[in-house]
Amino acid sequence: MVKKGEPIIEVEGIDTRFGDHVIHENLSLTVKRGEVIGIVGGSGTGKSVLLRTILGLKKPDAGRVRVFGIDFSTLPEEERRLHEQRWGVLFQDGALFSALTVAENIQVPYREHLNLSQELMDELAAMKIAMVGLRDTAGDLYPSELSGGMAQRAALARSLARQPEILLLDEPFSALDEITRGDMQALLQTIIARHGTAAVLVTHDIDEAMILADRIVLIGDSPGRQIGEWTLESLRPRDPLGPELSALRIEIMKLLRAHRRASAPGASDAAPAERLPADAAA
Ligand SMILES: Nc1ncnc2c1ncn2[C@@H]1O[C@H](COP(=O)(O)OP(=O)(O)O)[C@@H](O)[C@H]1O
Ligand SMILES: [Mg+2]
Repeated sequence: MVKKGEPIIEVEGIDTRFGDHVIHENLSLTVKRGEVIGIVGGSGTGKSVLLRTILGLKKPDAGRVRVFGIDFSTLPEEERRLHEQRWGVLFQDGALFSALTVAENIQVPYREHLNLSQELMDELAAMKIAMVGLRDTAGDLYPSELSGGMAQRAALARSLARQPEILLLDEPFSALDEITRGDMQALLQTIIARHGTAAVLVTHDIDEAMILADRIVLIGDSPGRQIGEWTLESLRPRDPLGPELSALRIEIMKLLRAHRRASAPGASDAAPAERLPADAAA
């Protein structure tokens, strides 16, 4: 077991490539137990590829990734799968199984390695459904019967099914309307705080990272590597319109802008400064 405060994810100087296309160069990142880290960067900077590399789904071309102190690329697939319940994954589109009800979706992780009675699985699913703020009747609904926000709640419930030590979140709320997104951010904050779960939150939304993260890492492109890092001291709930976060937002934007200008000299002429927030998110 990894002890409290110890690194739970260690990315050490990784290079990743697809053919000639260099995605990451000498990228390093450490996440400690219980820490929430926000990874921010424009589209195509390799944030999703980084998560897949952490999950062991893509092997880095150089460097090393360890999760719970283990380099999964050295383990046989079967042994890697035994550790899978130690992390929960949530993507933008939730990816619920459309042929299964919400309760059945949440029970998928229970069926994988555990030998639980149906009664116990029903009880556990009901607990998770309540935890994410869905009504208990939602368990019998199919994904097509859910709103976008309800579907992301159900997907979050499934990712929490086995009480993961780490949550890996890839643009989890980007497809939701602003009010629903705010509700989901508050929910995630509560769950993470209550369980002391570490989380890696990939987002192009600077405000989302500032609201949720203990630390923000900014990834630049061509190739993807860390270009900035901030530790957030202020207590939650955080006010994205307050002076501290407003100043931080400007600092992050300036760095993104300067980096973009440096890596694509022509591009900044075509993009007025005011458009940069949307640009960075495009
Ligand atoms: N399976 C793949 N094969 C080839 N190129 C890929 C593959 N997956 C991602 N890429 C490329 O890697 C780059 C980074 O992608 P991604 O991690 O999805 O970016 P982000 O999540 O930051 O928007 C993109 O240029 C993308 O085209
Ligand atoms: Mg992505």
